[in-house]
Amino acid sequence: MKLWGGRFRKEENKLMEEFNKSFEFDKVLYKQDIEGSIAHVYMQGVCGLLSKEECETITKELIKIKADIENGDLILEGNYEDIHSFIEINLIQRIGEVGKKLHTGRSRNDQVATDMRLYAKEKTQELIELISSFRNTIKEVANNNSVLMPGYTHLQRAQVVTFKHHLMAYYSMFTRDEKRLKNALEILDESPLGCGALAGTTHSIDRNVTMEKLGFKRVVENYMDGVSDRDYLIELMSDFSIIMMHLSRLSEELILWSSQEFKFIEIDDLYTTGSSIMPQKKNPDGAELIRGKTGRVYGNLMGLLTVMKGLPLAYNKDMQEDKEGFFDSVKQLKMCIQVMEKMIATLKVNKDQMKSCVKSGFLNATEVADYLVKKGIPFRNAHSIVGAIVIYCEDNKKSIEELSLDELSKFADVFDESIYDFIDYDKILDKGIKELIK
Ligand code: ARG
Repeated sequence: MKLWGGRFRKEENKLMEEFNKSFEFDKVLYKQDIEGSIAHVYMQGVCGLLSKEECETITKELIKIKADIENGDLILEGNYEDIHSFIEINLIQRIGEVGKKLHTGRSRNDQVATDMRLYAKEKTQELIELISSFRNTIKEVANNNSVLMPGYTHLQRAQVVTFKHHLMAYYSMFTRDEKRLKNALEILDESPLGCGALAGTTHSIDRNVTMEKLGFKRVVENYMDGVSDRDYLIELMSDFSIIMMHLSRLSEELILWSSQEFKFIEIDDLYTTGSSIMPQKKNPDGAELIRGKTGRVYGNLMGLLTVMKGLPLAYNKDMQEDKEGFFDSVKQLKMCIQVMEKMIATLKVNKDQMKSCVKSGFLNATEVADYLVKKGIPFRNAHSIVGAIVIYCEDNKKSIEELSLDELSKFADVFDESIYDFIDYDKILDKGIKELIK
């Protein structure tokens, strides 16, 4: 069952046949392949390459094939080279000679390029919707949790922030991610159908007709580029990698925060698992898997970049290797976004623990320095005065706000009662431009 047997004197070696096949994984493109064929047939009708009846016969049967695949009457299996062969051979078996006219003015090279673009467009749109819903969830949970928490740099307690502001940092990241996907969509929205194998066709076809029918914004400018461009997959997988990097950072925080050492949050039972030996364990597997799957999404990007780097123009079979990695990345990303959204929506925030951690670790030391600056001391001097205060506090096992005015005055004579209000954790976020953090 081959589309190209004519010039061969020998049968293809079995191992080679097995090696060459892509049907097992490119069958997911059946919808796009049929949609592309229907557009191609329509265009052939418009351009006078097929009669009205021929167009109708082929189109009707292509629609029927799609319906049969979807209702289970036609199973995507058998000894076919790829999804393109499967559809075309089944069409010819069903309607005979006229089915053999489908491929006029087309090559599998522009056909597969069209299928992949259509698939990439559809999946990117789905991902944009998932990210958008995830962003809404982040915002909602953030708004419900304007509670004080320690902010970190170097994973050392630094200054007081809110859990809301911390979460909204991720909102900003995923907003950029959504924009990146939309940009990528804009760039890839070009129809390669009509490029032929690499050099167009002697038939007077009209690429604009198929472009419009398939909902692309433009046609590709160059035939040879059109059949061999996989930039859009690389670009999308780069965007996917950035999204996974963001999800992985958030996962890492959830894992840390849910540990006994932090106890800032509790991940819902729904997204955790237990240990087969240690009865007390509740492990953050959901977050760990997202962090782990980041590796394969990066790997898929590196895989395709490497496949493409040495390829001469135009199509080369190497390009068949674009599929499994891309399909896998889309699948993993979709699951990761959804699992993360559910974990965020259901997590319990341990306000009291966050607040009590805010109180130790001198998270108001910067504000003490700011206070001294407001009293006329240059910042560098203020910084070193507060450094000395911190040492004193450590030695005496006290926090800065626990020091008496007498103790504070030993370090600088500008301290007065107003210091206590100024460095009160509940009031710090009312000052200066900290409004945004609340
Ligand atoms: N399975 C092939 C791919 O994914 C389809 C295109 C085949 N073209 C060819 N000239 N052999 O790239």
